[in-house]
Amino acid sequence: MDSILVRGGGKLSGQIPIAGAKNACLALMPATLLSDEPLTLTNAPRLSDIRTMTELLSSLGAEVTSLQEGKVLAMASHGPINTRAEYDIVRKMRASNLVLGPLLAREGHAEVSLPGGCAIGARPMDIHTDGLAKMGAQIDLRDGYLHAKADGGKLRGAVIDFPFASVGATENIMMAATLAKGTTVINNAAREPEIVDLADCLRAMGAQIDGDGTSTLSIQGVDRLHGATHRVVTDRIELGTYMLAPAICGGEVELLGGRIDLLAAFCEKLDAAGISVSETENGLSVTRREDQIRAVDVTTEPFPGFPTDLQAQMMALLCTADGTSVLEEKIFENRFMHAPELIRMGADIEVHGGTATVKGVAKLKGAPVMATDLRASVSLILAGMAAEGETTVSRVYHLDRGYEHVVTKLRGVGADIERIKS
Ligand code: UD1
Repeated sequence: MDSILVRGGGKLSGQIPIAGAKNACLALMPATLLSDEPLTLTNAPRLSDIRTMTELLSSLGAEVTSLQEGKVLAMASHGPINTRAEYDIVRKMRASNLVLGPLLAREGHAEVSLPGGCAIGARPMDIHTDGLAKMGAQIDLRDGYLHAKADGGKLRGAVIDFPFASVGATENIMMAATLAKGTTVINNAAREPEIVDLADCLRAMGAQIDGDGTSTLSIQGVDRLHGATHRVVTDRIELGTYMLAPAICGGEVELLGGRIDLLAAFCEKLDAAGISVSETENGLSVTRREDQIRAVDVTTEPFPGFPTDLQAQMMALLCTADGTSVLEEKIFENRFMHAPELIRMGADIEVHGGTATVKGVAKLKGAPVMATDLRASVSLILAGMAAEGETTVSRVYHLDRGYEHVVTKLRGVGADIERIKS
């Protein structure tokens, strides 16, 4: 298995291009199942998660062609559709569950494997299934698969109150509702930019959606959707991750395609920590104002709050801050697996339940560390870039799921980093 070798040290300067959002693309791709006309996505990221979704959609009978080295995905679902999403593919990636809504809307039934265990917590699917049940679906769990069937072969509009603003459930119900009979209202819907991006794409396909970006989404079902071409929104998590590189190492880096509105709560915390973010003609520029980073407290929340997907990377920054920072993880129950690895690099962190207390130390020290999930692995790279000596991050397949060309992008701004092939 490959690993990544990082030598800590120097300040960074230059530009990093930010890719299209993995999480948006993973929700946009299943939308091909809602129409028999072609759906083309541009600005797609080149990632193993996207290849997994390609494999899943292909297994269902959709055609997915990767063009321009993967930056364009040309999809079509005009043939007969297989409604069974097999465990062998679904277990690789939780976002596979996003085919449930579209399959049910198109075919009136679907059998989708439950995703199973996940490193960052239980992550059940009750919000998805309760919502679909309100729309007239009967759903049973048998042999590890959700067997869903729409009453009379067609979903119907309903008023659905989410107990929590789940991103995936909002996407699944929104897609299912585009072809349902009548109007669906989702109260306490997720407001993430990826939801707005999916709504934009579905509207381009002829869907009637209002309220995306607010907590109340309204979707009026239509008889059919048509083809469209859609550009995937900027990846705000990749953006935030690379904004932390100059914050941790010093220097000044421009993030091409970056937008403050995608990360307002995160930018406020950076400002409090002593990091300046300014808009440029082509994106955002990030620089550290003082030698010493200041401690800040962070609580993860659904958008527009501080994103859970940037908590690990923020912790890497705060390990060397002046003072004590408290990080509260409110979205996932088990998302501090990076803490023991950072401690191996000399960080002073105590974890109690969903709270991590980080006492800043003068310097981190390089060490062999192990990635446990996607965001944890990149946080260890960031920590290694500021540490004294060498850090080797193993299990980098997690990184390949969500960061395209991470070594090239960081080397481009002066980081001493390389991939060691095994
Ligand atoms: C999406 C993102 C993920 C991000 C997360 C929260 C994708 C592909 N992934 O994941 O990167 O970390 O949003 O911003 O977009 N829950 C339930 N029942 C459900 C659904 C969710 O209890 O039916 C719980 C989960 O266990 C978790 C919380 O709700 O604790 C958030 O989950 P959700 O917003 O659904 O996240 P995902 O869509 O899986």
